[in-house]
Amino acid sequence: MPPSTQSAHPNRSGEPEPPTPADTGRDQTRAGDNQLDPDRLDQVRAQAAVAIAAAADLDALAVARTAHVDGRAAPLVLARRALGSLPQADRAAAGRRHNEVAESVRALYDARLAELTAERDARVLVEERVDVTLPGGRRTHGARHPITALSDRLVDVFVAMGYEVAEGPEVEHDWFNFEALNLGPDHPARSSHDTLYVDPVGSGLLLRTHTSPVQIRTLLARPLPVYVVCPGRTYRNDAVDATHSPVFGQLEGLAVDEGITMADLRGTLDVFAQALFGSGLSTRLRPSYFPFTEPSAELDVACFACRGEAARQPCRVCCDEGWIEVGGCGMVDPNVLVACGVDPARYSGFAFGMGLERAAMIRHDVREIRDFVDGDVRFGRPFGTGS
Ligand code: PHE
Repeated sequence: MPPSTQSAHPNRSGEPEPPTPADTGRDQTRAGDNQLDPDRLDQVRAQAAVAIAAAADLDALAVARTAHVDGRAAPLVLARRALGSLPQADRAAAGRRHNEVAESVRALYDARLAELTAERDARVLVEERVDVTLPGGRRTHGARHPITALSDRLVDVFVAMGYEVAEGPEVEHDWFNFEALNLGPDHPARSSHDTLYVDPVGSGLLLRTHTSPVQIRTLLARPLPVYVVCPGRTYRNDAVDATHSPVFGQLEGLAVDEGITMADLRGTLDVFAQALFGSGLSTRLRPSYFPFTEPSAELDVACFACRGEAARQPCRVCCDEGWIEVGGCGMVDPNVLVACGVDPARYSGFAFGMGLERAAMIRHDVREIRDFVDGDVRFGRPFGTGS
């Protein structure tokens, strides 16, 4: 565009601009009658009408209102103020004229405001429309792992009987994991533990093969009598198959007090077995061997599926045994008490330990132990985990 055609008019269209409130502000210095002059008021009305009609939305209308309707520098407001400087005789007529113009501008403004508000409301209704018939986006809830849930549930049973919860490290020292538990360096039972040792060789550190070292830590740390339940993760150098995993959970129990007998063990395990598999199931103790208990036993619970009737009908859960093996137990070997500084002449105790995955597999008819660690959401779903 040649600059010459633009120089006279600062706006792009080349049209003369309507006076702005600032321009009219300068009018204030002129005589009041000038501002209240009928032609001048008509012009003010016309300019207001143009600005109001041109406002494309409510924001623009608010700007037009300040400039033309009731802003401090709006020509109409300035003209009203100028009324006072008119001679008394002219005031009434000028005031009426001003009122009439002001009212008509106000009416234009109100009409445009109603129009734009209606437009905005209609647009919002369309833009923000919600189809309430659409299916909602469902957020899935996380939940505890089935092994954690089972462990918590069993711990609760013992806490209700007055037991405390005790925990120990997963990287354990040989002394706690074996030696203090009556498994000396050359004890043949060590080989059954398939231990994972921690570097460097000779550090004496290993991944605990059972939760029994927590018995030792508890007896060393807590005042007698001791009633503790110890849930935790344990490790063995087992190849993974349907029923073996190198990492698995155990739950250990230990009671050391004056006058504890095998009958206490039996009664406690009855409560525990029923909490695990359901009420009314009988239990039995089968003679067994653990270096840290004497005598030792395996705890069996009558199969909850066939209720011990497997002899008469085939049962998948107990493989027709009628009994389910739950864990090991026994009276704490006096050597263990001595290793922990407890006088075996005064105190006796019982201990038991069980595998959590095994119990969960039997309870929920899970065929593969690795399902517990694979993280497949389809497995977790019935337990409330996963999506
Ligand atoms: N710690 C034994 C195991 O892992 C279980 C057990 C615990 C046995 C306590 C007797 C007493 O097999």
